[in-house]
Amino acid sequence: MALELIETDITLLAVDAIVNAANESLLGGGGVDGAIHRRAGTALLAACRALPEVAPGVRCPTGDARITPGFALPARFVIHTVGPVWHGGSREEPERLAACYRNVLKLAEAQGVASIAFPAISAGVYGYPADAAARVAVNTVREAPWRPDRVLFCTFGPAMTQAYDRLL
Ligand code: APR
Repeated sequence: MALELIETDITLLAVDAIVNAANESLLGGGGVDGAIHRRAGTALLAACRALPEVAPGVRCPTGDARITPGFALPARFVIHTVGPVWHGGSREEPERLAACYRNVLKLAEAQGVASIAFPAISAGVYGYPADAAARVAVNTVREAPWRPDRVLFCTFGPAMTQAYDRLL
């Protein structure tokens, strides 16, 4: 199936799984993380808090992913992942961002997810340049050994939409 692009609030999408651009604590934040927690309800925070810490204050290391139910969201699942903070590209940011997409797809496959929506991971607060973030997203999903029947890249503003549009 072709990769799709949609500009909307990801929390509105009635897909099997939406992806959350979280931080390593998995205890919520701003941006898409804040929007997802607001719409999912406090049960999502409780489910995240119940996930084991793999290091002090870290439930999901950068590049890794964790899955929870979607609770009050229209999506059945939330797959949380933590993108790299952009430091200029000299700290393996592309590889760490690509790992987010690969690890999310691994959990999606294990869960039998048929439709998934990705936000532009790391392209907000974490400062990853829009075009570079979109390129890693599209290339990694395109090259993945498996992906759900429906994959949507969900953008939240014209700049990011144009960045994906140039690639799709
Ligand atoms: N739906 C879809 N996309 C959204 C939404 C939304 N409701 N809200 C924001 N976005 C977009 C942003 O415009 C940006 O393009 O998601 C992309 C990722 O931006 P952030 O949410 O800031 O995520 P990120 O850059 O990965 O930073 C993660 O921010 O919110 C905190 O807890 C989070 O510490 C973590 C950090």
